[in-house]
Amino acid sequence: MLKPNKLANNNFLSSLDISTDEFLHILELAKNFKNKKIDICPNNKVLGLIFDKSSTRTRVSFQVAMSRLGGTTIDLNPSTSQIRRGEPIKDTARVLSRYCDVIAIRTFDQSVLQEYAKWSTKPVINALTDLEHPCQALADFLTIHEEFLDFKDVVLTFIGDGNNVVNSLILCGALLGVEVRIACPKGYEPNSLVLKKAYEIYKNKNLLKITNDPITAVRGANVLYTDVWSSMGEENQKEEKDKDFIGFTIDNSLVSNADKDAIILHCLPAYRDKEITDEVIDSRNSRIFDQAENRMHVQQALLSCLLS
Ligand code: CP
Ligand code: NVA
Repeated sequence: MLKPNKLANNNFLSSLDISTDEFLHILELAKNFKNKKIDICPNNKVLGLIFDKSSTRTRVSFQVAMSRLGGTTIDLNPSTSQIRRGEPIKDTARVLSRYCDVIAIRTFDQSVLQEYAKWSTKPVINALTDLEHPCQALADFLTIHEEFLDFKDVVLTFIGDGNNVVNSLILCGALLGVEVRIACPKGYEPNSLVLKKAYEIYKNKNLLKITNDPITAVRGANVLYTDVWSSMGEENQKEEKDKDFIGFTIDNSLVSNADKDAIILHCLPAYRDKEITDEVIDSRNSRIFDQAENRMHVQQALLSCLLS
């Protein structure tokens, strides 16, 4: 029976905190959890959740994943704990590591997450920051692998904002050698350091392309992916971004340029009829709800490795 391997890194703050082999191991474990081929109970371990931003999928999928592992979760609401009051992270992190076995954090700045990880003696997981959403990317690539059974020759095109979700997709694409194309309006390119790191990892630099033309990016692609144009924390830019992203909606006309069997992904929550139309979200080729389900399976796998 497949067993979770300990990861070389204690934390999962970035997609690059795991190696390609560890990535593939987590996907394999996740498939086994999904098919109920393994049953691991790491003895009543406790996951602490700190969410500075809203969440449905990440919060619930972590809670259910932990309960399936035989553990429990404490959802630490920043407003009703001393976190919102401004207790120093180095104090909160050290105290929480005395109670919890692993901590998942959703916050704004990556440096806040890093500060928690610095002071926590237990593993810290990135449950989304402004920079990355690595747990999401694990689920995305599991969904892609389930569909195509291999990453070889898969072309993944992301249409939209160069945000946290894209940054993690790019880093994972580099780790797995998957061709990633990004189409975004000028000025909304992914993080430049992320691009630099990805180009360093890709053996074939042509496998990562950034363009401002959605049709070119979509041509022949196997996976079309989008996310909201304005992320949490960017509410005041919504009006301006809605204008800047005209022409970047995934609709049937754009989809018709992709491979005929292309699948559609969206991390959710979506603004239907902004970044993606109703028809496309609910189309036969949409795997968006499988993708959401896969959050739970990959996080169960990730937790089992971090707790082993
Ligand atoms: N995709 C995702 O992270 O969703 P939530 O914001 O609902 O957690
Ligand atoms: N880019 C989005 C992802 C939500 C899951 C945000 O950060 O709000």
